[in-house]
Amino acid sequence: MHILITGGTGFIGSAAVASFLEQGYSITILSRTAHPDQVGVRFITDIDAIDSDTVIDAIVNLAGASMAGKRWSVAYKKELLASRLDTTRALASLCERLSTKPGVLLSGSAIGFYGPHKDERLEESAAAIDSFSSELCRLWEDEASQMQRYGLRVCLLRLGVVLANKGGALEQMAQPFKFGVANWIGTGQQWLSWVHRDDVVAALNFLLLQQRASGAFNVTAPNPVTARDFCAALKRRYRTFITVPLPGFFMRLVVGEMADELLIAGQRVIPAALQQAGFEFEYPKLADALAA
Ligand SMILES: NC(=O)c1ccc[n+]([C@@H]2O[C@H](COP(=O)([O-])OP(=O)(O)OC[C@H]3O[C@@H](n4cnc5c(N)ncnc54)[C@H](OP(=O)(O)O)[C@@H]3O)[C@@H](O)[C@H]2O)c1
Repeated sequence: MHILITGGTGFIGSAAVASFLEQGYSITILSRTAHPDQVGVRFITDIDAIDSDTVIDAIVNLAGASMAGKRWSVAYKKELLASRLDTTRALASLCERLSTKPGVLLSGSAIGFYGPHKDERLEESAAAIDSFSSELCRLWEDEASQMQRYGLRVCLLRLGVVLANKGGALEQMAQPFKFGVANWIGTGQQWLSWVHRDDVVAALNFLLLQQRASGAFNVTAPNPVTARDFCAALKRRYRTFITVPLPGFFMRLVVGEMADELLIAGQRVIPAALQQAGFEFEYPKLADALAA
């Protein structure tokens, strides 16, 4: 199988590429930076480097500026949007000109699609509450869905907070615990829908091959936890001396609007579509994921 991937140099994409290579797939990575090719991997910095008679079986679309990278100024919000929408549009124009169309597009999105929610369990059909993240995810999903017109099977990956032993959100969240201080943000009652990165990669592999799978998929473990419970699980892994909850207003002061959407509020998301399709999580429980 030949897979074209955007964001293939990132936290999730690099793990996906490693898994695809293990299976003998050949990979093309679209990156903003030139990299030397590796065995099985061709790097390109311009989508026009792909000839129209190239056969691409699948596209994995993960590129996007980091949601937690900077304060959400007007300029950075534009970059968050453009980095995703422009890349997805470039993929659509590639599909338009390819003489053999790819079979499937697995395109990124996030549980931010649903906006800030309280305790209700959110399956894929749940209504979105207005917020910048939900608007961004909706536009990103809409752009990706356009590629159905070229006959691609489109799967939209509503990713939760992806955890791995290095990098990603956990590295930052675990930092104070390593210094003996446990914390949560705000009331701690907000839900945190996490997923082990190995399960994200397994879900990508699963959806690549499930010929009948299409539409939105929550890519979150089946057992989300509250921020307080997440804190308790981390406390069991690190020797913490004190617990110092961080007030929501303080985080709002430090990181601005992003705090309201990513830190103080949350979503209790259930991977209903993946489970209905027969996907089994290797790490359904947080304690096992953290132990790994
Ligand atoms: N990690 C999570 O917990 C999580 C949760 C929900 C959703 N997601 C979404 O899943 C996708 C992958 O996540 P990740 O954690 O692997 O992200 P990441 O490590 O930040 O990687 C994203 C990739 O996107 C490309 N990129 C960065 N800024 C860009 C820009 N301004 N314009 C175009 N491309 C840009 C980069 O590739 P090059 O440098 O090679 O161009 C980078 O490797 C992201 O879109 C993210 O929003 C992630």
